Amino acid sequence: MLRGQLFARKTVDQCIADSEVGGGMRRTLGAVQLTALGIGAIIGAGIFAAIGTAISGDAGHVGAGAAIVVSIVLAGVTSALAAITYSEFAAMIPISGSAYTYAYATLGELVAWIIGWDLILEYAVGNIAVAIGWAGCFDSLLRGLGVELPRWLVTDILTARHNPALLASVPHLGPIPLVFNLPAFGIVAIITWLLVIGTKETAWVNTLMVVIKVAIIGLFLVVGIAYVKPQQWSTPAFAPNGLAGISVGAAIIFFSYIGFDAVSTAAEEARNPQRDIPRGIIWSLIICTVLYVGIAFVLTGIIPWDKLNVPDPLAVALQYIHADWAAGVLALGAVAAMTSVLLVFQLGQARIFMSMARDGLLPPWAARLHPRYKTPHVTTIVTGIFVALFAAIAPIGVVLELTNIGTLFAFILVALGIIVLRRTDPKRPRPFRTPWVPLLPIVSILFCVYLIVSLPTLTKVRFVAWLVAGAVIYFLYSVRHSRVRREGEVGPRVGGEPA
Ligand code: ALA
Repeated sequence: MLRGQLFARKTVDQCIADSEVGGGMRRTLGAVQLTALGIGAIIGAGIFAAIGTAISGDAGHVGAGAAIVVSIVLAGVTSALAAITYSEFAAMIPISGSAYTYAYATLGELVAWIIGWDLILEYAVGNIAVAIGWAGCFDSLLRGLGVELPRWLVTDILTARHNPALLASVPHLGPIPLVFNLPAFGIVAIITWLLVIGTKETAWVNTLMVVIKVAIIGLFLVVGIAYVKPQQWSTPAFAPNGLAGISVGAAIIFFSYIGFDAVSTAAEEARNPQRDIPRGIIWSLIICTVLYVGIAFVLTGIIPWDKLNVPDPLAVALQYIHADWAAGVLALGAVAAMTSVLLVFQLGQARIFMSMARDGLLPPWAARLHPRYKTPHVTTIVTGIFVALFAAIAPIGVVLELTNIGTLFAFILVALGIIVLRRTDPKRPRPFRTPWVPLLPIVSILFCVYLIVSLPTLTKVRFVAWLVAGAVIYFLYSVRHSRVRREGEVGPRVGGEPA
């Protein structure tokens, strides 16, 4: 019986009906805005910051060198395969909650909880990394303008502890250094406020940001291309650390693709979700992949591969060819780029929490919509506080890798869900069909596993610890409050037997 309950699942129709309770959200987003939402989530700290470590390596990682192009394609193929499986679900179950909702309809409540908990790593923890990256860029931009913030207001405690000169310069309360990343905290607070007042306004701001960041990537390509020296791509410099460098590079640069699935979390606000959500996901991914490959070629063509372990590698490359004005414009654009990532991720996280609360796995107050703005204001504010606090105190590398492993794990569960639902509910209309099931989802899983294996062991340990913490909450709270159980709405278990 218990086993049956753990695998209790909602029917797809239940999922859709639940989303309509209380009048639902405003449906304001079309295909172009959804694609912009995807690009808004995709291009950010990954391509503007993490690509430097992926190419040059650091104390804990080997670099890919110019072969980052191969890493980018590897991470891109992993994302594209996942995008196809996400599209089938997003078109079939066009409501908030993304992979969490899909899992509830296919693999049952326990898996849904695991994935919902796991998605906190992708969205909220991912946003912690982006907010820290944002703060770094904002700080260099201010310094370029001659404004010097006190160091204790732009760093975190771990970074300070590893930097004796910095540590000596900050104020102390007894043995405790007083450091706090104020810009990271501040930007999250502003984003949270924007999201509480409404998605339509937010989508407009996001579209503007997207235009800006695509334009500055264009600037980088146009300014840089004349300085490309093709001999920098010749062996052995092309892949200085061989396959190991390429794989680690792919596992890091994967961060730069995360976000296309955020389009699916806005399904309840889409005017025509069945048609436009798959379009938004796939188009945003195609556009970003093309831009990334271009950036990789130009970047590795204009500056030696081992000079890029810096917080702002694209700007540094432009300085290397003495295009200082372009470097300044790029830094400004990078700040805009990361702002739009923050917007989309905060939006996604709040909606996933809301879906979990609707199902009783989180407390009911989390599902409330704002009476006037129709936004999930409670979860938006809770997410904002969590992200802002950690962004103020955490180092970027740790959070970035946790985000990657969490997202890859979510991709695996979604691919499994596609295979399962084709068996348990083959007749359900699928406005978008994944081709070659089960082969394509299986290949998708294998790519994700390959990238997970390429991440450091400590990241895997942290990930398992995160899942264990989630299991404790599930068995202490969610299992007793699950609406599917309380109301006896238990559908057939996976495999078709009644629960
Ligand atoms: N893809 C997002 C970024 O690179 C998370 O910032």
